[in-house]
Amino acid sequence: MPIVNMKDMLQHAYEHGYAVGAFDLVSLDFLQGILDAAEHTRAPVILSLAESHFDAFDFALLMPAVEAAAMRASVPVAIHLDHGASFETAVKAINLGCNGIMVDASDKPLQDNIAITRSLTEMAHGCGIPVEGELGYVPGVEGEDAERHPGEICYTTVEEARSYVESTGVDFLAVSIGTVHGRMQGKPELDYLRLQQINEALDMPLVIHGGTGLSDEQFRQLIDNGVSKINYYTALSDAAAKQILHNAGAAPSSGYTGLAKGLRDAIGAETERCIRLWGGEGRADEVLARCRPWTSVEHLIIYNVEGLDTAGAKEMIAEGRRVLSAIPGVREVFTGEAMKEDDQYRYTWLVRFCHPAVIDSYREHPAHVAFADNHFRPVAGGRISIDYIEIIN
Ligand code: 13P
Repeated sequence: MPIVNMKDMLQHAYEHGYAVGAFDLVSLDFLQGILDAAEHTRAPVILSLAESHFDAFDFALLMPAVEAAAMRASVPVAIHLDHGASFETAVKAINLGCNGIMVDASDKPLQDNIAITRSLTEMAHGCGIPVEGELGYVPGVEGEDAERHPGEICYTTVEEARSYVESTGVDFLAVSIGTVHGRMQGKPELDYLRLQQINEALDMPLVIHGGTGLSDEQFRQLIDNGVSKINYYTALSDAAAKQILHNAGAAPSSGYTGLAKGLRDAIGAETERCIRLWGGEGRADEVLARCRPWTSVEHLIIYNVEGLDTAGAKEMIAEGRRVLSAIPGVREVFTGEAMKEDDQYRYTWLVRFCHPAVIDSYREHPAHVAFADNHFRPVAGGRISIDYIEIIN
């Protein structure tokens, strides 16, 4: 089960002077190409899903594939929400299996960015999940020409970085020091002195957005100054597009699978180049040994219902399923009825939490308290309740 705690993963990279690639994926070709590259190089990797790409795929449908691929990988993997647009998306992402979260409020005034990020951090930490904040503004759009979206770069300052991290409690900070998202003409000027000062002030893993288009030397300087996570998408998208154009040129009457041939390898090759360049190659076993595995908890309740007929009990259960499955950190709510009528306990809840921290945050969550106090406890007389942590061998 090589999904690992993302905070541990990036701390390892930070302490050992390399950066983990956070590659945005938009399809199974990307997912498989990125993981092929991580396996070939024996490197840790972050699978990122950006909300700006949600019109290209159904997030809720793709996530089970992402999680299944991560679980069968032999290298350490984290699954990250990139540039989430709201608190609600963050909760959805956690409940679908992301174990790292970013909601991007960097285009807002500083105090709003702080308030939005602080509430996100409180929620995510209650689920055991680390948060990436972004301070300063990195313009551009992933996958497009940076010149088409020429918003002003707003540089991160050392003082603001210090107070932002203290006020929000973020685990990693994405900084703006001259990169832009998307395809660039010319070479971006990066402010290494600023990065160095931020790194000295914060002493925590830093993140660079807009990895596409930077030179080998620029990457080296970034990593030397505390960058432990590099976000990368446009170059993978361009490698895929080039392959499609090549396929179309070589066999113009190809069908879908003919046009899509070799995409996984093209994406994998560019991913592999980055992993080697950023120093992640050969780190998988150390990271697996040093990072906490990502383990879920099964919250089991078996109970009988008193004072309600079967229809009433089923109504109460349906309401609970609806309310409880929306609580942050709840991966799944299974409600069941004993198959033998004379079994000692008639009903069950099996509520799967993404992390042991959810045992407490779930118990105290207002939606849980209201449901338990008003609907469940008054009718569930005899019951047994146990939290089971997943056994990983
Ligand atoms: P590029 O598309 O420039 O590689 O940037 C990706 C990114 O920063 C995603 O968050």
